[in-house]
Amino acid sequence: MKVFATSQLPGDALARLAQHCELDTWESSGPVPADALHERLQGCDGLLCLLTNCVDQALLDACPALRAVSSMSVGVDHVDVDALTARGIPLGNTPGVLVDTTADLTLGLLLAAARRIPEADRFVRTGRWDSASPWHPDMFVGRDLSGATLGIVGLGAIGQAVARRAVGFGMRLIGWSRTSREVEGVEPVSFDTLLASADFISVNVALTADTRNLLDRAAIARMKPGAVLVNTARGGIVDEQALADALRSGSLFAAGVDVFGREPVEADNPLLDLPNVVLAPHIGSASQRTRERMAALAADNLIAALAGKQMPHCVNPEVYEAP
Ligand code: DGY
Repeated sequence: MKVFATSQLPGDALARLAQHCELDTWESSGPVPADALHERLQGCDGLLCLLTNCVDQALLDACPALRAVSSMSVGVDHVDVDALTARGIPLGNTPGVLVDTTADLTLGLLLAAARRIPEADRFVRTGRWDSASPWHPDMFVGRDLSGATLGIVGLGAIGQAVARRAVGFGMRLIGWSRTSREVEGVEPVSFDTLLASADFISVNVALTADTRNLLDRAAIARMKPGAVLVNTARGGIVDEQALADALRSGSLFAAGVDVFGREPVEADNPLLDLPNVVLAPHIGSASQRTRERMAALAADNLIAALAGKQMPHCVNPEVYEAP
């Protein structure tokens, strides 16, 4: 059986996978271009991909031998899941293992944005903290987390992990999910109430057809004046231009953004010029331990599928139901 992996992975995941198949791995440091992906996937039974690889109808049409896809990510918005399901191809993902790591980054961005840490860092680093600008009561004043209301958009595993951390900072918690969920310590509210009453908003929903552009211009306009928005979920959920306009006008105080509508971020992205936004290159799950765990799960999914078993973490388990 043949498998193509679109990248080297951390840990021993690929070495384990190679014991179960003939493994071809994209070795270049850059990402695999779409035409090379089509070419290398010819005749393959399995694909191990990243969130940067688009797995669409055209790819499936070009690779009829494919019978299992495993993505080293929890989000699968880069994959046409319906097209896979229609062909009976299981799609594996890597839930669970990145929850705490992503929640940590969320709190990191919340603090960094609220307390203007990157701005302050640039100020010191560029020698602007001098005798003409000594310590002053107004210097880099920000917002307190304690006593503030955090609105969590999406109360799945990551949203709940954000909630647990925010309790430690003395925040009051409100939350909204598309499917109503009871989460201890989080007051369930409507989306509109959350927008209007949260001092901080953390976006923790998956990107789906329902959540695309959830925080559009109208929603951002309904946010509490002076609020802080943090997005560690997916860029397509927040209207970046509307967010940039709100940050520039001062109607929002700050933002922390780890994910973008287009990644890598483009040079003309409106968020890049703003001092009151903290940016990161989609590093929510970027700890050594978590990336090794994600790679291991991605390999486990494919190893199971190649052996004719159900993937341990399958996004479309209906493919296993008898027709
Ligand atoms: C995912 O897995 O979907 C994250 O966005 C990257 O770790």
